[in-house]
Amino acid sequence: VDADGTRVFSLDAQAGTTEFTPGQPSDTWGFNGSYLGPTLVAERGEHVRVNVANSLDEPTTVHWHGMHLPAEMDGGPHQMVAPDASWSPEWDIDQQAATLWYHPHPHGETEDHVARGLAGMFILHDEQERSLGLPSEYGVDDVPVIVQDSGFSADGEQESKQRGYAGGLGDELIVNGTRGPYLDVSDELVRLRLLNASTARTYAFAWGDARPVELIATDGGLLEASVSLDHVRLSPGERAEVLLRVTPGERVVLQSKMTPEIAGLVGPVADTNGGSDAFDVLEVRAAETLDPAPPVPAALNTIDDFDETEVAMTRNFTLDDSFEINGEAMDMGRIDETVTVDTLERWIVDNATSLPHSFHVHDVQFRIASIDGTAPPPELAGWKDTIFTEPEKEYELLMRFEDYSDPDTPYMYHCHLLWHEDQGMMGQFAVV
Ligand code: C2O
Ligand code: CU
Ligand code: CU
Repeated sequence: VDADGTRVFSLDAQAGTTEFTPGQPSDTWGFNGSYLGPTLVAERGEHVRVNVANSLDEPTTVHWHGMHLPAEMDGGPHQMVAPDASWSPEWDIDQQAATLWYHPHPHGETEDHVARGLAGMFILHDEQERSLGLPSEYGVDDVPVIVQDSGFSADGEQESKQRGYAGGLGDELIVNGTRGPYLDVSDELVRLRLLNASTARTYAFAWGDARPVELIATDGGLLEASVSLDHVRLSPGERAEVLLRVTPGERVVLQSKMTPEIAGLVGPVADTNGGSDAFDVLEVRAAETLDPAPPVPAALNTIDDFDETEVAMTRNFTLDDSFEINGEAMDMGRIDETVTVDTLERWIVDNATSLPHSFHVHDVQFRIASIDGTAPPPELAGWKDTIFTEPEKEYELLMRFEDYSDPDTPYMYHCHLLWHEDQGMMGQFAVV
């Protein structure tokens, strides 16, 4: 924190080598290191600045996924940072406690830059969340779990992934950049912050012993109450916070067990696109003596519904088979939608394709009002910025773009399957 109270972070995008396998260096990129980046942590009400440097030999950007902030600070494709240049966005943290993340967003190159290793977590806290007494000791009982798929040669060097309809799919998972990961815990209650930072793969996270997954938060913050699920589905870009209660000496494995049904894939395309892949994600190993944890309060958050009679504008977004939205591919020079600041918007996202896509909107956290006319299940009833859209389903989203207007600098909405985004499955909106 500097003299005027600003919380200052520094990120330096750089090339390096990472030994995912001891003795087998692979060429990778990272922020402030060779792979991934530091977890940034800030508090609601703080003013933050990030000094971003680019030590790569090509331009990139850093986008703050899930963050409410002015368009010029967003780090999308209009805020390129040239090699050896720097960029220092700053903004006020004015949203609730949540697990957000950051990653590059250079148009046409996003899949490549993220796959090489440029990504990190951005955790926000607030007073209301702190008052709940949830596990919050970073790295001890509050642990980032950044899940990515990768590929390795027989001697352990990272190799390029196979391309399916969704983009590059690797046949092995890494967590926080680690092969064969495990987590030693000494608290009986652990909070895992799951981030799907994969470029294309969707996961169905579940516990190996089939105990329920206790979901407490989605992209934009805490749910009203925890939800017990047999799996949590996360498409690229989505986050989930889950609680795990362990007994002394216990070992429990977080897995991803996909099925064609959960993947929204039917027929032969399911097999070639990971529709029935199973992985061990992370083994959690409990110590013989565990620190007790207080019970988790039943009420975690208050989420007021939007008043639909206030909807000022309804917009339709049709995702089509040529990786376009409303029949158009992304054009950096075209603003597709102009939104009036501080008004309620209804966005109807129609996945008119036979394959799933992941729909993300910058600057805002939205609510899902309905899926094909039906109220969303409890795990999708909270704040979201990215949603998995199943083939031939329609998602009605409600959102309000607050505070910041800028007719000249657009924000993005796009498919978060990064290869699709790179192909142009993205559009731009300005808030005026
Ligand atoms: Cu996570 Cu526009 O991106
Ligand atoms: Cu984003
Ligand atoms: Cu897509």
